[in-house]
Amino acid sequence: MTEAIRPYRTGPAEFDGIAPGYDESRGGAARADGFAEQLSPLLDPALPVLDIGVGTGIVAAALTRRDRRTVFGVDLSPGMLALARGRLGPRVAVGDAGRLPVRTASVPQAVSTWLFHAGPDRTAVFREVARVLRPGGRYLVIPVRGRRPVDDIGRVVNALEDRLDPAGARQDGPEALAPVAAAHGLVYEGTASERRTTFEVSPRHMARSLSGGLFTGAWPVGREDTRFVDEARERLLALPEPDRPRVREMTDFVMVFSRAA
Ligand SMILES: C[S@@+](CC[C@H](N)C(=O)[O-])C[C@H]1O[C@@H](n2cnc3c(N)ncnc32)[C@H](O)[C@@H]1O
Repeated sequence: MTEAIRPYRTGPAEFDGIAPGYDESRGGAARADGFAEQLSPLLDPALPVLDIGVGTGIVAAALTRRDRRTVFGVDLSPGMLALARGRLGPRVAVGDAGRLPVRTASVPQAVSTWLFHAGPDRTAVFREVARVLRPGGRYLVIPVRGRRPVDDIGRVVNALEDRLDPAGARQDGPEALAPVAAAHGLVYEGTASERRTTFEVSPRHMARSLSGGLFTGAWPVGREDTRFVDEARERLLALPEPDRPRVREMTDFVMVFSRAA
């Protein structure tokens, strides 16, 4: 008998557990600096920013360093926020993105990087963003999926993502988010600040990342899901030359949402 798959809802426990190794396992300072470089030209440097799902604060700190701007942060996970507090000081608070502890129409601009695939209630998040943004304010979102390589590793990982998320609740691209934003009166202006990066990874290394919880560490999973991850790992190890690194190219972009002035 299989255990029922729990609905996808992130709780603090999932990210608390992986907080200590989070930055290093997700691209470290290079990813954060790259995201700051993408977001920065789309933000008014004179105005503060709210980072929703700020995590360890690694991206927020990079934004602060870049333009000496003030960044505030909200996150559900006390473990992630403990690290953010070390970087941003008292400007961070535990809170749900779907119930922001922030006054109506008080936020000039907001960002979220890699938030929506983590499973927050996206309807609630966009309702809250529409409430807290000042008229004319912008909400910038960098999705985790971006444009990803469809090579032999990519085919296995994409198939795993589809099996773990058959309803598409963790899809975080424009097709998934723009309609939700529109339903709450936010205008989707399109994508901006594309950034191409290349990296090398072998099938064996990717298989090891899956064992280390690349998905299961951050997603609440039932036994069925664990089986899918095991199968994906086996498929990766069965690829030709599993120790040969593949050069993989991906493109990250920013989705721009705005509240009418
Ligand atoms: C993949 S991490 C990204 C963190 C950070 N933005 C970054 O780019 O490094 C996703 C973060 O979203 C937070 N999160 C997930 N659901 C949330 C919610 N409903 N409200 C607030 N934060 C949430 C998690 O606790 C986690 O810190």
